[in-house]
Amino acid sequence: MVQRTFSIVKPDAVRKGFTAAILAEVEKAGFKLVSIKRMSLSKAQAEGFYYVHAERGFFDELTTFMSSGPIFPMVLEKENAIADLRKLMGATDPAKAEEGTLRKMFASSIGENAVHGSDAEDTAAFEIGYFFAGLELK
Ligand code: CMP
Repeated sequence: MVQRTFSIVKPDAVRKGFTAAILAEVEKAGFKLVSIKRMSLSKAQAEGFYYVHAERGFFDELTTFMSSGPIFPMVLEKENAIADLRKLMGATDPAKAEEGTLRKMFASSIGENAVHGSDAEDTAAFEIGYFFAGLELK
């Protein structure tokens, strides 16, 4: 089933100049780039995006980091996009990520982990709608 998922090149990876290299790996893995833009989040916008983690101890650190500089949010499409992107990203903690995964290649810590990817169909729908309007997704 052709499916869409949502991803972000996070501020650490943008700062280090890894955006194009990450996009190249994503395209090499068979994902079609449906939509992408560069923007910066306010702290409140980052809190809205990560609201499911509001009670976690790392919420303030996470939302401060995600509002610390430009990001590239994007919508990606392929067969099994949600699960396949999570495989390509690797473990949340780059120290545990396998060789060849985006986090092994580009991330430095569990907080500054280079990329985000939706974990399920309902979260992908919420996350795509949080960043993109229907006219940007044709
Ligand atoms: P992401 O896939 O964007 O979804 C939630 C994020 O929370 C996750 O990536 C990590 O960057 C972050 N996160 C998870 N656990 C921790 C932690 N222990 N400390 C800081 N950030 C974390």
